[in-house]
Amino acid sequence: MKFYLAPMEGITGYVYRNAYHAHFAPMDKYFTPFLAPKNNGGGFSHREKNDILPEHNQGMETVPQILTNSSQDFLRAAEDLKEYGYREVNLNLGCPFATVTAKGKGAGFLREPERLETFLDQVCEGMASLGMEFSVKTRLGAEDPLEFDRLLEIYNHFPLKELIIHPRVLKDFYKYHPKMENFAKALQDSHAPVCYNGDIFDSETYNRLTDDYQDLQAVMFGRGILMDPFLIEKVSGRPAPGQERTPKKRLEAFHSQLLEGYIEIMSGERNVLFKMKEMWAHLIRFDPGWEPYIKKLRKAQHLSEYRIITDQMFRE
Ligand SMILES: Cc1cc2nc3c(=O)[nH]c(=O)nc-3n(C[C@H](O)[C@H](O)[C@H](O)COP(=O)(O)O)c2cc1C
Repeated sequence: MKFYLAPMEGITGYVYRNAYHAHFAPMDKYFTPFLAPKNNGGGFSHREKNDILPEHNQGMETVPQILTNSSQDFLRAAEDLKEYGYREVNLNLGCPFATVTAKGKGAGFLREPERLETFLDQVCEGMASLGMEFSVKTRLGAEDPLEFDRLLEIYNHFPLKELIIHPRVLKDFYKYHPKMENFAKALQDSHAPVCYNGDIFDSETYNRLTDDYQDLQAVMFGRGILMDPFLIEKVSGRPAPGQERTPKKRLEAFHSQLLEGYIEIMSGERNVLFKMKEMWAHLIRFDPGWEPYIKKLRKAQHLSEYRIITDQMFRE
């Protein structure tokens, strides 16, 4: 089985990816949060460039993700990425947020299958001449999972490197359960290799998935890794760096790399604290004894306070 880290805007930037990779079982691929190329060749923002710079992605397989509905912008971005050494990019057809979907991007693009087909046709031709490959990360549709029949027919016209499926529709956001019957059909009918994504938060769910779908070759993990960064080790036994140390020591080392990384690149301790508090919001289940500390962390206004609390947590 191949394991991928899901793109998560605001969380899985290069600081997080490097810290994860240094301390936990390595992922086969790390997808960047979406890069949104500006119209008319404006290129990437400073933050986006930093995320894809080769020196910030050493020793791991990073796949940049692009969010656009313009084939010209996609191809221009791919060409820029090629100069940085990338040979594979991913197209975001899954983002459910209104600011994105209202512009017909992300999962909003799924509402226009004809336009999507033309887009993919142009992207495919352009990518072939660039000597690059691309994969798609998609939902089942906008309103109804049955829309996927038509969408898969379109995807099957093109030599996609991979089809990553999050089996919900746009209007579900992250509610309800992934629609596994529709996923089963997609897995069976897709010409491209399929990667599953969605709600794998523990070993039990992972084992059920892989028992039910024995042909599955790749799983992408998002929130499950934020909740439990040891999850890949637990589900696969894949070795991790520093595995001989206790989980708490390893988490401490990861935490320290993350904290120092954010301090280095972000201006102002408020922004750093915001990022760190977000991390703790997901890690809440890691050690029930930490609950009172996490409550205190939420109120911390200064890094000095924050450090005192986390030092206590890791010392206990
Ligand atoms: C905070 C957050 C940011 C996300 N940003 C992106 C993104 O930039 N691109 C993308 O394709 N999906 C994005 N997603 C969706 C995830 O990649 C993933 O599909 C989703 O969380 C479901 O997987 P999970 O249940 O394993 O978390 C985001 C999800 C979250 C929670």
